[in-house]
Amino acid sequence: MRIVLASNNAHKLEEIGRMLAPLGHDLVPLRDFPEIPDPPEDQETFEGNALQKARFVFERTGLPCLADDSGLEVDALGGAPGVYSKRYTPEAIAETNNAKLVRELAGVTQRTARFVCALALVSDRGDEAWRGTVEGAIGHELRGEHGFGYDPLFLPDAAPGRSMAQLEPNEKDAISHRGNALKALPAALSRLLGGA
Ligand code: IMP
Repeated sequence: MRIVLASNNAHKLEEIGRMLAPLGHDLVPLRDFPEIPDPPEDQETFEGNALQKARFVFERTGLPCLADDSGLEVDALGGAPGVYSKRYTPEAIAETNNAKLVRELAGVTQRTARFVCALALVSDRGDEAWRGTVEGAIGHELRGEHGFGYDPLFLPDAAPGRSMAQLEPNEKDAISHRGNALKALPAALSRLLGGA
């Protein structure tokens, strides 16, 4: 079945698409619907934003919609950047966001953090939102070329000695916040798509 991803983030599309393919569903990017503007995301929680994006696109396509709202929570920063992870700096790009995070944590020894991924699925049968997380710490310098966003700074507990950006794509999928959230997707799909 065709499921619209309520996002134009190419990295999310790739990661979710490769994990959805074995379930026999095609993930359709939002850019296939050029008449639909970028969905709003002005809620205070990851789940609230994911539901807001998925509902917005479902109302305009009538197709089942999946949305991902994700980000990084750093304990020493009171959970920041959190839902503002994408717009942590005015430039809203990984280079400046990562540079700011390194600056903010200069001299800080308590560096624990987690990635959070809320997924929301909306169909004509209703909606659901849930989350996956991955625990780790923030490194002192950027390492690795894979992934995107804060991956070069995130040191997952589950992969000692490597940053998230040093993991192969299948290794990231196996431990990531997005991979963990996607584990609950088959059950949600059968509830909201009727086993299609
Ligand atoms: P969103 O598009 O509002 O959900 O913003 C997500 C932001 O969180 C991204 O732009 C990244 O900065 C960060 N983020 C989310 N997931 C990941 C990930 O898997 N790796 C690295 N950064 C991520």
